[in-house]
Amino acid sequence: MTNSTPSTARTLDNGSAGTGPVLEFRNVSIGFDHTVLEDVSFSVGPHETRILLGPAGVGKSVLLKLANGLLCPDSGSVHLFGEEISSIPEQQLFHLRTRTGMVFQEGALFDSLPVRDNVAYQLIQEEVPDEQVDVRVREALRFVGLEQTFSLYPGSLSGGMRRRVAIARALIHNPQLLLYDSPTGGLDPVTSTTIIELIVKQRDVYHTPSVLVTHRLQDAFTMCSHRFEPAEERMVPLPENQTDPKTTFLMLSEGHLIFDGSLQELVSSQDPFVREFIE
Ligand SMILES: Nc1ncnc2c1ncn2[C@@H]1O[C@H](COP(=O)(O)OP(=O)(O)O)[C@@H](O)[C@H]1O
Ligand SMILES: [Mg+2]
Repeated sequence: MTNSTPSTARTLDNGSAGTGPVLEFRNVSIGFDHTVLEDVSFSVGPHETRILLGPAGVGKSVLLKLANGLLCPDSGSVHLFGEEISSIPEQQLFHLRTRTGMVFQEGALFDSLPVRDNVAYQLIQEEVPDEQVDVRVREALRFVGLEQTFSLYPGSLSGGMRRRVAIARALIHNPQLLLYDSPTGGLDPVTSTTIIELIVKQRDVYHTPSVLVTHRLQDAFTMCSHRFEPAEERMVPLPENQTDPKTTFLMLSEGHLIFDGSLQELVSSQDPFVREFIE
């Protein structure tokens, strides 16, 4: 975000895994009192957006926490930026995690801190000088259309605005992988669309690889069927029958990854769980 010329090169310059997967799960299983994920394998390539679908309680949030090392698999391995994260020391893991941006379910803002400090959280941890923090926070807030909230407290913002602040916070340190956990959960359809528009903007302007968790099929279809038009500063529909080729789907059901493929493959799938979910 500090770079005013968004380019695909920037993502690679930051030292991400080049042409290899940015994130890869290999036969990952995890359980608590019961098995949550079993033998889950998939990958996220450079510039790819994976939309993770599945009913409530199926393990979508657990999968995102495994992706950035907040949880450790019972078996199998998770590879982030080419490193197997379960086998590296905590200090190094902390560093890898700072290269990801996480938008937590419900936004998870600190109500006692103004928007500026919420968005700046990562930069403050890194002891970035105050003036630089201000510039970068304003830039991130401008990206989400909320510059005017700089000095406000989260409590005075609407649900949709809080989600947008959470997205600005995730973007502040130019992440090389974005993890969005149900960013439209609990929002009305119109506000949800403004959030999806931001995610499409992020995808089409910065090309940061992402995993987007949602239980709303409408969000997924909107993501696939639109692109961000910078000249108009808004999301526009793709021509009829075209979908974004870099946006593809994963679906979890009862612990298993039952689908990994394109929108076309999703809507024509004969798998009974997939059919039940999309109908
Ligand atoms: N830290 C934890 N300890 C015990 N159980 C957990 C923990 N995190 C998640 N679970 C359980 O894992 C399952 C999947 O949860 P979650 O990933 O939050 O589902 P969702 O798909 O709705 O995001 C649920 O049964 C939940 O209770
Ligand atoms: Mg969840």
